[in-house]
Amino acid sequence: MNLASYIRDIPDFPKEGIVFKDITPLLLDFDALDFAVSSLAEWARPLSVDFVVAAEARGFILGAALARELGVGFVPARKPGKLPGETVSAEYILEYGVDALEMHADAIADGARVLLHDDLLATGGTAAALVDLVRGRGAQVAGFGFLVELSFLGGREKLDGIDVKTLIAYD
Ligand code: PRP
Ligand code: ADE
Repeated sequence: MNLASYIRDIPDFPKEGIVFKDITPLLLDFDALDFAVSSLAEWARPLSVDFVVAAEARGFILGAALARELGVGFVPARKPGKLPGETVSAEYILEYGVDALEMHADAIADGARVLLHDDLLATGGTAAALVDLVRGRGAQVAGFGFLVELSFLGGREKLDGIDVKTLIAYD
């Protein structure tokens, strides 16, 4: 299946000069959604992970489906101030701003094997923050699965040594 045909380019969103890769057409189509989740799950199954951790907000969409498909639990990494329990935090720089992600401090057992997920890899700031959060809790990053990669932004360089899978790449 040509998954890229389900991604829509929106020029100048959310800022002038950014070409926004809109994944909602893919989410709207059951076959495309099913193919995306199944493909990531097929890649991730041999990694034998204990949890999937994904970034708010778009990472939650496929992240939870992926956890369900792999038969493991899901841990949300949320924007600041959203989680009710004690949290750990990591800051990052976006293609269009600065933000932080928080995770419940007790969410992941020491030594757990974790699959990370986000919808899109751009500069890699968000992804690196997720890695920091998980490693900071003594867990192991077994792999990082993305739907889309903007390869020309070089985000993968921030994930050196990590098993990275992307379903759609733009050079
Ligand atoms: C988008 C996307 C990734 C991140 C990638 O999230 O979902 O999380 O940007 O960019 P990076 O590789 O340069 O860090 P955004 O912060 O726009 O939030 P959203 O998921 O809430 O829309
Ligand atoms: N997150 C960061 N850069 C993005 C882009 N160009 N399109 C969609 N999401 C993004």
